[in-house]
Amino acid sequence: MRLQVFLSRNGVSSRRGALDLIKKGNVSLNGEVVFEPSTEVDEKCAGVSVNGERIKPRKFVYILLNKPKGYMTTKEDRFADKTVLDLLPKNLNHLAPVGRLDKDTEGLLLLTNDGDVAYKLTHPKFNIDKTYYVTLRERLEHQKRIKVENGVYLDGVKTLPAKIKIIKLLRDRTELTITIHEGKKRQVRRMFANVKTKVLYLKRLVQGPLKLGTLKVGCARELNAKEINSIRMIGDDV
Ligand code: URA
Repeated sequence: MRLQVFLSRNGVSSRRGALDLIKKGNVSLNGEVVFEPSTEVDEKCAGVSVNGERIKPRKFVYILLNKPKGYMTTKEDRFADKTVLDLLPKNLNHLAPVGRLDKDTEGLLLLTNDGDVAYKLTHPKFNIDKTYYVTLRERLEHQKRIKVENGVYLDGVKTLPAKIKIIKLLRDRTELTITIHEGKKRQVRRMFANVKTKVLYLKRLVQGPLKLGTLKVGCARELNAKEINSIRMIGDDV
């Protein structure tokens, strides 16, 4: 991992701040001052010090959960509803959900203590794809589909272009996937409500490079090395 990234990921400062620290000669690696932000460090046993103080590498945990209905995506719920953390072992209580799924929505939810990754997966500037499987209570007319894809007004702001793929178009039901790039509150439900169509079932399948796959509802797994790499690299080319 690059020295600048190491410093920001381990809570020393922002990436910009880390750059300043390095350039000013405040950072050393194994006892030697380093001025090059792209110097490679071994993130597990880094030997990095800032102003003489050793930086202890954090242990990051990444859990992918298939959230069931009926659970809130908050760390604690004032009204004593069940939260997604109730689905994980107690030793993972320090993790925070990345983004939000409604109580009634199922599907892919990442939980992590890696604030940098959480930021990248949720900040609009990274333009992360989020794909949802949706069942509608009616046949989705072409005009309505186009309207939702082109953007509808939610709280006075037009949603960004979305992509709909129809899976089944029946007389009284539609199954589809929709890919959006924002995370407004109840966005998918409200986009369809805007064209007077009710969402009966909603499940997140994809968030950026992460896929729900065959993980069963209510089950969780750790991300593999390839997945961790892919989320850490988001925005490296921005
Ligand atoms: N859109 C919604 O309407 N609900 C969610 O939980 C996520 C996206």
